[in-house]
Amino acid sequence: MKCVAITSAKQLNIKDIEEPKLENGDVLIAVKKTGICGSDIHYWEAGAPVGMVMGHEYVGTVLDPNGCEDLKVGDRVTALPISPCGHCSACLSGNPQYCLETWNHATGLSLDYPGGLAPKMKIRSDMIIKVPDSVSDEEAAMVEPTAVGLHAIHLADIKVGDKVLIIGGGIIGLVSAMFAKSEGASYVALSETNAARGQKSVDLQVADEWFDAKENILEKMYQKIPNGFDKVIECCGNAPAVSTALSAVKPGGSVILVGVSLGPIQVPTAIAVTRELTVKGAIAYTKDEFKTCIDLMANKQIDVLKFLSKIVGLSQVQASYEELTSGTSDVIKILVDPNQE
Ligand SMILES: NC(=O)c1ccc[n+]([C@@H]2O[C@H](COP(=O)([O-])OP(=O)(O)OC[C@H]3O[C@@H](n4cnc5c(N)ncnc54)[C@H](O)[C@@H]3O)[C@@H](O)[C@H]2O)c1
Ligand SMILES: [Zn+2]
Ligand SMILES: [Zn+2]
Repeated sequence: MKCVAITSAKQLNIKDIEEPKLENGDVLIAVKKTGICGSDIHYWEAGAPVGMVMGHEYVGTVLDPNGCEDLKVGDRVTALPISPCGHCSACLSGNPQYCLETWNHATGLSLDYPGGLAPKMKIRSDMIIKVPDSVSDEEAAMVEPTAVGLHAIHLADIKVGDKVLIIGGGIIGLVSAMFAKSEGASYVALSETNAARGQKSVDLQVADEWFDAKENILEKMYQKIPNGFDKVIECCGNAPAVSTALSAVKPGGSVILVGVSLGPIQVPTAIAVTRELTVKGAIAYTKDEFKTCIDLMANKQIDVLKFLSKIVGLSQVQASYEELTSGTSDVIKILVDPNQE
Protein backbone atom coordinates (compact mmCIF):
# COMPACT_ATOMS: atom_id res chain seq x y z
CA MET A 1 0.00 0.00 0.00
CA LYS A 2 1.05 3.61 -0.58
CA CYS A 3 2.15 5.71 2.39
CA VAL A 4 4.14 8.86 3.11
CA ALA A 5 7.42 8.28 4.98
CA ILE A 6 10.40 10.35 6.17
CA THR A 7 13.23 10.30 3.60
CA SER A 8 15.68 12.96 4.87
CA ALA A 9 15.69 16.40 6.54
CA LYS A 10 12.54 18.26 5.43
CA GLN A 11 11.74 15.59 2.86
CA LEU A 12 8.86 13.14 2.82
CA ASN A 13 8.14 10.77 -0.05
CA ILE A 14 5.39 8.46 -1.13
CA LYS A 15 6.50 4.83 -0.98
CA ASP A 16 5.07 1.33 -0.89
CA ILE A 17 4.97 -0.57 2.38
CA GLU A 18 3.51 -3.91 3.34
CA GLU A 19 0.09 -4.02 4.92
CA PRO A 20 0.30 -4.23 8.74
CA LYS A 21 0.72 -7.69 10.27
CA LEU A 22 -1.41 -8.01 13.36
CA GLU A 23 -0.13 -9.38 16.63
CA ASN A 24 -2.18 -10.21 19.70
CA GLY A 25 -4.01 -7.09 20.86
CA ASP A 26 -3.72 -5.24 17.53
CA VAL A 27 -6.75 -4.14 15.54
CA LEU A 28 -6.61 -3.29 11.83
CA ILE A 29 -8.36 -0.09 10.74
CA ALA A 30 -9.00 1.64 7.45
CA VAL A 31 -7.77 5.19 8.02
CA LYS A 32 -10.22 7.95 7.04
CA LYS A 33 -8.37 11.08 8.16
CA THR A 34 -5.03 11.85 9.83
CA GLY A 35 -3.82 15.16 11.26
CA ILE A 36 -0.41 16.74 10.73
CA CYS A 37 0.90 17.72 14.17
CA GLY A 38 3.51 20.25 15.34
CA SER A 39 5.44 17.31 16.82
CA ASP A 40 5.56 15.68 13.38
CA ILE A 41 7.15 18.92 12.15
CA HIS A 42 10.09 18.37 14.54
CA TYR A 43 10.67 14.88 13.02
CA TRP A 44 10.25 16.29 9.51
CA GLU A 45 12.86 18.97 10.22
CA ALA A 46 15.27 16.42 11.69
CA GLY A 47 14.64 13.91 8.88
CA ALA A 48 14.67 11.05 11.36
CA PRO A 49 13.95 8.27 11.91
CA VAL A 50 14.25 7.55 8.18
CA GLY A 51 11.32 5.46 6.98
CA MET A 52 8.97 6.45 9.80
CA VAL A 53 5.36 6.81 8.71
CA MET A 54 3.90 9.62 10.82
CA GLY A 55 0.28 10.29 11.76
CA HIS A 56 -0.76 9.85 15.40
CA GLU A 57 -4.03 11.83 15.19
CA TYR A 58 -6.48 9.68 13.29
CA VAL A 59 -9.97 8.32 12.74
CA GLY A 60 -10.85 5.16 10.87
CA THR A 61 -13.15 2.16 10.65
CA VAL A 62 -12.39 -1.31 11.95
CA LEU A 63 -11.37 -3.79 9.24
CA ASP A 64 -10.27 -6.65 11.50
CA PRO A 65 -11.10 -6.65 15.23
CA ASN A 66 -8.60 -9.55 15.64
CA GLY A 67 -10.55 -11.14 18.45
CA CYS A 68 -11.35 -7.89 20.31
CA GLU A 69 -14.89 -8.60 21.53
CA ASP A 70 -15.95 -4.96 21.99
CA LEU A 71 -15.37 -4.17 18.31
CA LYS A 72 -16.95 -5.22 15.04
CA VAL A 73 -16.06 -4.59 11.40
CA GLY A 74 -17.14 -1.06 10.41
CA ASP A 75 -16.99 0.53 13.87
CA ARG A 76 -15.74 4.10 13.64
CA VAL A 77 -12.84 4.62 16.06
CA THR A 78 -10.00 6.81 17.15
CA ALA A 79 -7.29 5.88 19.68
CA LEU A 80 -4.66 7.17 22.03
CA PRO A 81 -1.47 6.65 19.98
CA ILE A 82 0.62 5.80 23.04
CA SER A 83 1.97 2.39 24.11
CA PRO A 84 1.79 2.18 27.93
CA CYS A 85 2.62 -1.19 29.52
CA GLY A 86 -0.75 -1.42 31.25
CA HIS A 87 0.51 -2.90 34.52
CA CYS A 88 2.98 -0.46 36.17
CA SER A 89 1.85 1.86 38.98
CA ALA A 90 1.47 4.79 36.52
CA CYS A 91 -0.77 2.75 34.23
CA LEU A 92 -2.81 1.35 37.12
CA SER A 93 -3.38 4.87 38.50
CA GLY A 94 -4.80 6.09 35.19
CA ASN A 95 -1.69 8.08 34.25
CA PRO A 96 -0.28 6.29 31.19
CA GLN A 97 1.69 9.45 30.38
CA TYR A 98 4.08 8.54 33.25
CA CYS A 99 4.63 4.97 32.03
CA LEU A 100 8.19 4.42 30.78
CA GLU A 101 6.85 2.40 27.82
CA THR A 102 4.48 5.11 26.64
CA TRP A 103 6.46 6.40 23.66
CA ASN A 104 8.47 3.26 22.76
CA HIS A 105 5.92 1.85 20.32
CA ALA A 106 3.61 4.83 19.88
CA THR A 107 1.55 4.77 16.69
CA GLY A 108 2.91 7.17 14.09
CA LEU A 109 5.81 8.06 16.39
CA SER A 110 7.84 4.84 16.14
CA LEU A 111 9.05 2.55 13.37
CA ASP A 112 7.14 -0.52 14.58
CA TYR A 113 3.69 1.11 14.59
CA PRO A 114 3.42 3.11 11.32
CA GLY A 115 0.91 5.95 11.54
CA GLY A 116 -2.09 7.22 9.65
CA LEU A 117 -0.31 8.57 6.56
CA ALA A 118 -1.30 5.24 5.00
CA PRO A 119 -4.71 3.79 4.15
CA LYS A 120 -4.47 0.99 6.73
CA MET A 121 -2.87 0.83 10.15
CA LYS A 122 -2.71 -1.44 13.19
CA ILE A 123 -3.58 0.07 16.55
CA ARG A 124 -3.75 -1.33 20.07
CA SER A 125 -7.22 -2.51 21.02
CA ASP A 126 -6.88 -1.19 24.59
CA MET A 127 -6.19 2.35 23.32
CA ILE A 128 -9.25 2.45 21.04
CA ILE A 129 -12.24 4.69 21.69
CA LYS A 130 -15.40 4.39 19.60
CA VAL A 131 -16.58 7.60 17.97
CA PRO A 132 -20.27 8.48 18.41
CA ASP A 133 -22.31 9.41 15.31
CA SER A 134 -22.62 13.00 16.53
CA VAL A 135 -18.84 13.50 16.15
CA SER A 136 -17.65 13.95 12.55
CA ASP A 137 -14.58 12.26 11.09
CA GLU A 138 -12.79 15.60 11.03
CA GLU A 139 -13.54 16.27 14.69
CA ALA A 140 -12.52 12.73 15.65
CA ALA A 141 -9.15 13.21 13.94
CA MET A 142 -8.66 16.32 16.10
CA VAL A 143 -9.40 14.70 19.48
CA GLU A 144 -5.71 13.99 20.13
CA PRO A 145 -4.41 17.59 19.94
CA THR A 146 -7.53 18.80 21.76
CA ALA A 147 -6.73 16.41 24.62
CA VAL A 148 -3.15 17.77 24.75
CA GLY A 149 -4.55 21.26 25.36
CA LEU A 150 -7.02 19.99 27.94
CA HIS A 151 -4.27 18.18 29.85
CA ALA A 152 -2.10 21.34 29.85
CA ILE A 153 -5.01 23.40 31.16
CA HIS A 154 -5.75 20.86 33.89
CA LEU A 155 -2.10 21.10 35.01
CA ALA A 156 -2.21 24.92 34.87
CA ASP A 157 -5.07 24.85 37.41
CA ILE A 158 -6.58 28.07 36.12
CA LYS A 159 -8.71 30.05 38.57
CA VAL A 160 -11.65 32.27 37.62
CA GLY A 161 -10.22 35.69 36.82
CA ASP A 162 -6.69 34.50 36.00
CA LYS A 163 -4.74 36.33 33.32
CA VAL A 164 -3.22 33.75 31.01
CA LEU A 165 -0.60 33.99 28.29
CA ILE A 166 -0.34 31.33 25.59
CA ILE A 167 2.90 31.27 23.61
CA GLY A 168 2.46 29.86 20.10
CA GLY A 169 -0.71 29.88 18.02
CA GLY A 170 -0.61 26.42 16.47
CA ILE A 171 -3.42 23.98 17.27
CA ILE A 172 -1.97 23.25 20.73
CA GLY A 173 -1.83 26.94 21.67
CA LEU A 174 -5.30 27.59 20.25
CA VAL A 175 -7.06 24.74 22.06
CA SER A 176 -5.20 25.69 25.25
CA ALA A 177 -6.47 29.27 24.85
CA MET A 178 -10.00 27.94 24.23
CA PHE A 179 -9.94 25.84 27.41
CA ALA A 180 -8.29 28.65 29.46
CA LYS A 181 -11.32 30.81 28.62
CA SER A 182 -13.77 28.06 29.51
CA GLU A 183 -11.98 27.58 32.86
CA GLY A 184 -12.75 31.21 33.67
CA ALA A 185 -9.63 33.16 32.68
CA SER A 186 -10.63 36.82 32.47
CA TYR A 187 -7.95 37.68 29.91
CA VAL A 188 -6.18 35.36 27.48
CA ALA A 189 -3.32 36.75 25.40
CA LEU A 190 -1.40 34.84 22.74
CA SER A 191 2.06 35.55 21.40
CA GLU A 192 3.15 34.54 17.91
CA THR A 193 6.05 35.10 15.55
CA ASN A 194 3.64 34.48 12.65
CA ALA A 195 1.34 37.53 12.40
CA ALA A 196 -1.28 35.67 10.36
CA ARG A 197 -1.65 33.03 13.06
CA GLY A 198 -1.59 35.64 15.83
CA GLN A 199 -4.44 37.57 14.22
CA LYS A 200 -6.32 34.34 13.63
CA SER A 201 -6.31 33.53 17.36
CA VAL A 202 -8.25 36.76 17.94
CA ASP A 203 -10.50 36.34 14.88
CA LEU A 204 -11.45 32.83 16.08
CA GLN A 205 -12.25 34.36 19.50
CA VAL A 206 -9.98 32.10 21.53
CA ALA A 207 -7.61 34.95 22.49
CA ASP A 208 -8.56 38.47 23.63
CA GLU A 209 -5.41 39.97 22.17
CA TRP A 210 -2.25 38.81 20.43
CA PHE A 211 1.31 40.08 20.77
CA ASP A 212 3.91 39.99 18.03
CA ALA A 213 6.82 37.93 19.37
CA LYS A 214 9.14 39.57 16.86
CA GLU A 215 8.68 42.96 18.53
CA ASN A 216 9.61 44.08 22.04
CA ILE A 217 6.99 41.79 23.44
CA LEU A 218 7.77 41.89 27.17
CA GLU A 219 7.58 45.70 27.31
CA LYS A 220 4.17 45.64 25.61
CA MET A 221 2.88 42.87 27.85
CA TYR A 222 3.99 44.56 31.05
CA GLN A 223 2.27 47.78 29.93
CA LYS A 224 -0.93 45.77 29.74
CA ILE A 225 -0.44 43.37 32.70
CA PRO A 226 1.95 45.24 35.05
CA ASN A 227 2.27 42.41 37.60
CA GLY A 228 2.83 39.66 35.06
CA PHE A 229 0.53 36.82 33.99
CA ASP A 230 -0.85 34.36 36.54
CA LYS A 231 -0.23 31.41 34.22
CA VAL A 232 1.79 31.01 31.02
CA ILE A 233 1.40 28.02 28.70
CA GLU A 234 4.34 27.57 26.35
CA CYS A 235 3.38 25.78 23.12
CA CYS A 236 6.47 26.17 20.87
CA GLY A 237 9.43 24.38 22.48
CA ASN A 238 12.22 26.78 21.49
CA ALA A 239 14.56 28.94 23.61
CA PRO A 240 13.01 32.37 22.85
CA ALA A 241 9.52 31.07 23.62
CA VAL A 242 10.50 29.41 26.92
CA SER A 243 12.51 32.53 27.91
CA THR A 244 9.47 34.72 27.24
CA ALA A 245 7.32 32.36 29.30
CA LEU A 246 9.64 32.66 32.33
CA SER A 247 9.87 36.45 31.94
CA ALA A 248 6.15 37.13 31.45
CA VAL A 249 4.74 35.21 34.41
CA LYS A 250 4.24 36.94 37.78
CA PRO A 251 6.48 36.08 40.76
CA GLY A 252 5.09 32.88 42.27
CA GLY A 253 3.19 32.10 39.06
CA SER A 254 3.20 28.95 36.95
CA VAL A 255 4.64 28.13 33.57
CA ILE A 256 3.42 25.00 31.79
CA LEU A 257 5.83 23.70 29.17
CA VAL A 258 3.96 21.87 26.41
CA GLY A 259 6.28 22.61 23.47
CA VAL A 260 8.79 19.86 22.75
CA SER A 261 12.38 20.57 21.72
CA LEU A 262 14.17 17.54 20.30
CA GLY A 263 17.54 18.91 21.53
CA PRO A 264 18.66 20.82 24.67
CA ILE A 265 17.91 24.57 24.73
CA GLN A 266 19.35 27.45 26.78
CA VAL A 267 16.93 29.42 28.98
CA PRO A 268 17.41 31.88 31.90
CA THR A 269 16.61 29.60 34.85
CA ALA A 270 17.65 32.41 37.26
CA ILE A 271 14.26 34.02 36.57
CA ALA A 272 12.49 30.87 37.75
CA VAL A 273 14.69 30.80 40.87
CA THR A 274 14.42 34.44 41.85
CA ARG A 275 10.68 34.61 41.23
CA GLU A 276 9.94 31.19 42.73
CA LEU A 277 8.11 30.05 39.63
CA THR A 278 6.44 26.70 39.30
CA VAL A 279 7.60 25.20 35.99
CA LYS A 280 5.72 22.07 34.95
CA GLY A 281 5.98 19.88 31.90
CA ALA A 282 2.77 18.62 30.30
CA ILE A 283 2.82 15.51 28.18
CA ALA A 284 -0.05 13.90 26.33
CA TYR A 285 -3.26 13.12 28.21
CA THR A 286 -5.07 10.51 30.20
CA LYS A 287 -7.72 8.27 28.67
CA ASP A 288 -10.34 10.20 30.65
CA GLU A 289 -9.19 13.48 29.10
CA PHE A 290 -9.35 11.90 25.64
CA LYS A 291 -12.92 10.74 26.32
CA THR A 292 -13.85 14.16 27.75
CA CYS A 293 -12.82 15.81 24.47
CA ILE A 294 -15.02 13.40 22.51
CA ASP A 295 -17.94 14.13 24.88
CA LEU A 296 -17.42 17.90 24.54
CA MET A 297 -17.50 17.52 20.75
CA ALA A 298 -20.54 15.22 20.83
CA ASN A 299 -22.43 17.70 23.02
CA LYS A 300 -21.37 20.64 20.81
CA GLN A 301 -19.69 22.31 23.81
CA ILE A 302 -16.50 22.93 21.84
CA ASP A 303 -15.95 23.73 18.18
CA VAL A 304 -12.59 22.52 16.93
CA LEU A 305 -13.58 22.54 13.27
CA LYS A 306 -12.80 26.25 13.22
CA PHE A 307 -9.12 25.25 13.52
CA LEU A 308 -9.32 22.94 10.47
CA SER A 309 -7.84 24.64 7.41
CA LYS A 310 -7.90 21.95 4.72
CA ILE A 311 -7.90 18.27 3.81
CA VAL A 312 -5.26 17.00 1.37
CA GLY A 313 -4.20 13.74 -0.32
CA LEU A 314 -0.88 11.88 0.11
CA SER A 315 0.84 13.71 -2.75
CA GLN A 316 0.24 17.07 -1.01
CA VAL A 317 1.70 16.11 2.37
CA GLN A 318 5.23 17.39 1.65
CA ALA A 319 3.86 20.75 0.44
CA SER A 320 1.63 20.90 3.53
CA TYR A 321 4.66 20.64 5.83
CA GLU A 322 6.34 23.41 3.84
CA GLU A 323 3.27 25.60 4.18
CA LEU A 324 2.92 24.90 7.91
CA THR A 325 6.55 25.97 8.49
CA SER A 326 6.50 29.00 6.18
CA GLY A 327 6.14 31.36 9.14
CA THR A 328 3.59 33.44 7.24
CA SER A 329 0.64 31.17 6.47
CA ASP A 330 -2.50 31.31 8.63
CA VAL A 331 -3.19 27.62 8.01
CA ILE A 332 -3.64 25.76 11.33
CA LYS A 333 -4.70 22.11 11.16
CA ILE A 334 -4.25 20.15 7.95
CA LEU A 335 -5.85 16.72 7.76
CA VAL A 336 -4.70 14.09 5.29
CA ASP A 337 -7.04 11.64 3.56
CA PRO A 338 -4.62 8.75 2.91
CA ASN A 339 -7.06 7.21 0.41
CA GLN A 340 -6.48 10.16 -1.93
CA GLU A 341 -3.24 10.34 -3.94
N1 LIG B 1 3.56 17.98 25.34
C1 LIG B 1 2.77 17.33 24.51
O1 LIG B 1 2.13 16.35 24.85
C2 LIG B 1 2.66 17.81 23.10
C3 LIG B 1 1.69 17.28 22.24
C4 LIG B 1 1.57 17.82 20.95
C5 LIG B 1 2.43 18.81 20.54
N2 LIG B 1 3.39 19.24 21.40
C6 LIG B 1 4.34 20.30 21.04
O2 LIG B 1 3.67 21.53 21.19
C7 LIG B 1 4.23 22.48 20.27
C8 LIG B 1 3.10 23.11 19.48
O3 LIG B 1 2.44 22.15 18.67
P1 LIG B 1 1.54 22.67 17.45
O4 LIG B 1 0.98 21.48 16.78
O5 LIG B 1 0.64 23.74 17.89
O6 LIG B 1 2.74 23.26 16.55
P2 LIG B 1 2.85 24.42 15.47
O7 LIG B 1 4.20 24.28 14.89
O8 LIG B 1 1.67 24.38 14.58
O9 LIG B 1 2.75 25.77 16.32
C9 LIG B 1 3.82 26.39 16.96
C10 LIG B 1 3.65 27.87 16.77
O10 LIG B 1 4.61 28.57 17.56
C11 LIG B 1 4.99 29.74 16.87
N3 LIG B 1 6.27 30.20 17.44
C12 LIG B 1 7.51 29.70 17.23
N4 LIG B 1 8.41 30.37 17.99
C13 LIG B 1 7.73 31.29 18.69
C14 LIG B 1 8.09 32.27 19.68
N5 LIG B 1 9.36 32.44 20.06
N6 LIG B 1 7.10 33.04 20.21
C15 LIG B 1 5.81 32.88 19.81
N7 LIG B 1 5.42 31.98 18.90
C16 LIG B 1 6.36 31.19 18.35
C17 LIG B 1 5.06 29.30 15.42
O11 LIG B 1 4.94 30.39 14.53
C18 LIG B 1 3.87 28.35 15.33
O12 LIG B 1 2.70 29.00 14.88
C19 LIG B 1 5.24 21.70 19.43
O13 LIG B 1 6.53 21.86 19.99
C20 LIG B 1 4.80 20.27 19.61
O14 LIG B 1 5.87 19.35 19.45
C21 LIG B 1 3.50 18.79 22.66
ZN1 LIG C 1 -0.16 15.43 17.91
ZN1 LIG D 1 2.94 1.27 32.48
